[in-house]
Amino acid sequence: MSEEPMLTEYGVPIDPRSMVTPMEATELELEPGHPGLGDAGYIARRRELFALCRRHRLERLGPPIIEYTAEETRIWRDVSPKLDELHIKHASQTYLAAKRELAITQREIPQLRHLSRRLERETNMHLVPAEGALPYRIFYEYIGQRGFPVTQFIRHGSHPEFTPEPDMIHDCLGHVPPLMNYDYAELLTLIGKAASIATQGEHLLALKRFSWFSIEFGLIEEHSDTKVFGSGILSSTGEIPYSLFSPEVRREPFVTDTVITTDYDPSRMQDHLFIAPSLPFLRHELEALVQRFGL
Ligand SMILES: [Fe+2]
Repeated sequence: MSEEPMLTEYGVPIDPRSMVTPMEATELELEPGHPGLGDAGYIARRRELFALCRRHRLERLGPPIIEYTAEETRIWRDVSPKLDELHIKHASQTYLAAKRELAITQREIPQLRHLSRRLERETNMHLVPAEGALPYRIFYEYIGQRGFPVTQFIRHGSHPEFTPEPDMIHDCLGHVPPLMNYDYAELLTLIGKAASIATQGEHLLALKRFSWFSIEFGLIEEHSDTKVFGSGILSSTGEIPYSLFSPEVRREPFVTDTVITTDYDPSRMQDHLFIAPSLPFLRHELEALVQRFGL
């Protein structure tokens, strides 16, 4: 087997094999600087949900019904109205239409089990319970089978507007609504299928960057306006206005060859974004890329 060149991700060299056969965490790990570190109650709750969701994922049981605490509901009620207001002004039409359809309210944290059934009827996508962020390859392997992994824990209450990792607010208000859209669901599934069969780290890294700059942090043109489309932006009250209006952000047209060679730092606000002309455009670009990679 030929040796692959070293790759660079998040500014540091990585072993290409780590993209193809990633390690997954079997126990809860909070990264340094996480706002929940030092809060024993929060850590105990996270451990409980980690074990429950991991078991449900590995045993393919679907999302468990969670009894949310008063504190978790408080955080949801604090953040979701602020996001709603920003979405109405700045989110893409695809997202807004889907969110209305799903009837996600500002009062109660939705149960993923119920949302999953609704999605299944609409676009044949379903939700897979996830204990936390999964490695890219594993995450997209589920998606290739039309299952979207979603977390069920809520960020720490000391910083309701910030989370260093995907949480229920990011997943449920960012990722879940667009899954109601057929074109979006097809685009995702296509990335998932390609990511499942890729054997070269370089190809996986390219697909990961394509996903990052579209699904996670994409902007999209709509009636000669720029709207937010990426879930990472849509789930952050700070990132929505920053992405559209900050002079610190470089915004350029989505050109696949540029996107797949652009590195990023997931630990801070994104200052380099790409604007896609439409969902069908992204799908077409992805199909061409997958074909070029021989996948
Ligand atoms: Fe995400």
